[in-house]
Amino acid sequence: MRIGIFFGSSTGNTKKISYLIYKRLNKYIICNIFDISKINLDKFNNFDILILGSSTWYYGKLQYDWYNFLNYNKNIIIRNKIICFFGCADKLNYRYTFGDSLYYLYKIFNNNNIIIGYFNNIYKFNNSKSLLFKKYLLGLIIDDNNKYEKNIRIINIWISDLLLNILKN
Ligand SMILES: Cc1cc2nc3c(=O)[nH]c(=O)nc-3n(C[C@H](O)[C@H](O)[C@H](O)COP(=O)(O)O)c2cc1C
Repeated sequence: MRIGIFFGSSTGNTKKISYLIYKRLNKYIICNIFDISKINLDKFNNFDILILGSSTWYYGKLQYDWYNFLNYNKNIIIRNKIICFFGCADKLNYRYTFGDSLYYLYKIFNNNNIIIGYFNNIYKFNNSKSLLFKKYLLGLIIDDNNKYEKNIRIINIWISDLLLNILKN
């Protein structure tokens, strides 16, 4: 199974989390990591599993580089991959659009692929498009601004679940 981690990050938070995920996962499976602003769509073809990370910006929008990437590749069709999502967000200052970017990635990549990496919500916020059944997040959301002391633990739990799911698929 070839794993590619693709991230978009404006101030470096999601980039930092991406590398933490990369380091941890790489202990078990070889993976590669890319900044979405520096690659072409073709790159996705090299991988069976895509781990896609975007922070949320400007009241519920995708991170800038992801926005540009998807705008450039408007009719993007990705099939037969295993895909999961993650990204940084802020539950205190953006409590009505908490981690919405995962939802936009989900909408684009959900069709014809297997989505894994759903996560039990641990945060308190008022609204998020990325929350399912009031309980599950569409992926790993990290609040690096307000909950950084828990990051490593949360990431490790998510990755353990991910590995089990990858084995199942
Ligand atoms: C202007 C601005 C708008 C933001 N909008 C949101 C938002 O709508 N939802 C959210 O959860 N976080 C929001 N954030 C918080 C960022 O997602 C958070 O700071 C994140 O860690 C940035 O990650 P990055 O450096 O990888 O881009 C916003 C931050 C700024 C400065």
